[in-house]
Amino acid sequence: MKYITEHIQSVALELFGVEQDISLTRPDVQFGDFSTNVAMQLAKPLGKSPRDIASELVSKLQESGLYEEVTVAGPGFINLRVLASHIASDLESNWSESYGQNTDGAGKTVVVEYPSPNMAKPYSVGHLRPGNQGWAVKNLMEATGWNVMTDDHLGDYGAPFGVWVTGFLKFSSEEALMRDGVYELGRVYIETKKALSEEKERGETELADHVQQWLIKLESGDEEAKAYSERFNTISLEHIHKVMKRLKISTEYELGEAFFAPKGKDAVQKLLETGVATQNEDGSIIVPLDDMGFDVPLLVQKSNGAALYATTDLATILYREENWHPDRVIYCVGSEQQFYFTQLFAMAKKLGITTDLYHLWFGFIDQLNEDGTREKMSSRKGVVLMEELLDQAEAKAREVVGERDISADDISKIALGAVKFSDFAADRRTNILFDWDSIFALTGFSGPYIQYAAVRVNKILSDNPEAASGSPDYDYEAEKAILLKIGEYPDVIRLSTRDLEPHKIATYLYELARDLNRYYETTRVSDAEPREKAARLAVLSKVSFVFTHGLGILGIEVPSRM
Ligand code: ARG
Repeated sequence: MKYITEHIQSVALELFGVEQDISLTRPDVQFGDFSTNVAMQLAKPLGKSPRDIASELVSKLQESGLYEEVTVAGPGFINLRVLASHIASDLESNWSESYGQNTDGAGKTVVVEYPSPNMAKPYSVGHLRPGNQGWAVKNLMEATGWNVMTDDHLGDYGAPFGVWVTGFLKFSSEEALMRDGVYELGRVYIETKKALSEEKERGETELADHVQQWLIKLESGDEEAKAYSERFNTISLEHIHKVMKRLKISTEYELGEAFFAPKGKDAVQKLLETGVATQNEDGSIIVPLDDMGFDVPLLVQKSNGAALYATTDLATILYREENWHPDRVIYCVGSEQQFYFTQLFAMAKKLGITTDLYHLWFGFIDQLNEDGTREKMSSRKGVVLMEELLDQAEAKAREVVGERDISADDISKIALGAVKFSDFAADRRTNILFDWDSIFALTGFSGPYIQYAAVRVNKILSDNPEAASGSPDYDYEAEKAILLKIGEYPDVIRLSTRDLEPHKIATYLYELARDLNRYYETTRVSDAEPREKAARLAVLSKVSFVFTHGLGILGIEVPSRM
């Protein structure tokens, strides 16, 4: 609430002759609407006790008539109770189409990398969180004025190709590939990998030799190999695009590992020249990181000269530095790669790279088994496929809306709302429990609960299209909790961005929905008398704006009906 901070600031200046930044917190309602610790902050510079400073401030603040009540609490906190009508007019004067957004990141560039799935397998729930978190973080950075570049770091390099052709010729057929596309490729991949390891146990190499031959053929530009490679890659990439479209996420760039692998060789050469890397006797190349506090060095080239995951990542970092000049790069990748990324970033530092490289990690998605135990989400067939999960979510959404006539488009919004919100239901670092009933619970902490509140408020607004304007002689007492909540929104965005924690927006939206439901219990809108009605509708239209905007950051849309 700007008018309050500015006012306290001017009173402090008048009384003590100091410019002090004021921050407000929201105490428990019984103490007031806002609280500030400014007296404690001033104690040292002024050489007075915080309580004395607080009392002086309080009597001046009281005189202003701006507050219902101002009190000193504890060692020198100042609690303020404000008039709802003041909050309403403050909001009105700060309101705009970009309410909540800011320009903190202006002039800075961030690269956000997500969801980065692997091409050899169908899209599974393993890449649900990278996509959701990445998309939300991208939206947060945009809302705070950053220049945002998005890049899908596809896992499209290395062995899959040889395994695919060998397996396709041995275990599959044209018909199966035509019919099942990427699912057949995934099946072939798994079956061939299994056959390869069985063969190895027997001490044979027939299949493994085939894999190698196809890889060599591809490298030497063999037409048949090229045709297979293009075909398989197209099938897989089309599938990834289809799933991302359903998830309603996208990226501007799609520079996968295969794009960077050839650049890796030069990068490793550079590391050797500058002495950052050293070559082992067997020819492999490592970057020692003991000076950065790691016992384990980072392997950047195998003894046979092949590029590794770290090699392509090294090339990626250098490429982005040279072409994009980012101030920050955010990698949205699960917690299991934490150690890897700390090593990678340590290596970057050794290379003199000062860009803020940030691993945005998150926990696993768990499921509850019938016997009550909890484990990483899986299906009878192994991983849970993304398309199947989304189909199931849509079926569940249909069930939840029951007999009502809801469009397919709205059903998919509800389904996605439930699935995505579960990602933000707690701090991203915790494992989430994926439970169909609770993610759709219309009375709980769920996406559909908030969507429903937003649909309801939009319905009231569309049923009453006439007037939604503030009125100066209305007290807004009934709307106070809601107005205070709307007033918090810009800070919520700021904090969420600072900590890269989109779940803070989710929690906030839930509280807003809850406040709104309480409001309906006591207050009439549609059949209120005209002056009150207009003022109430004006508040509700702000609520509607915040729901749409906040859910939008999480990648969740408001259905037109539900
Ligand atoms: N494809 C990888 C995986 O699925 C994630 C890539 C993450 N990004 C990176 N620059 N290493 O595990």
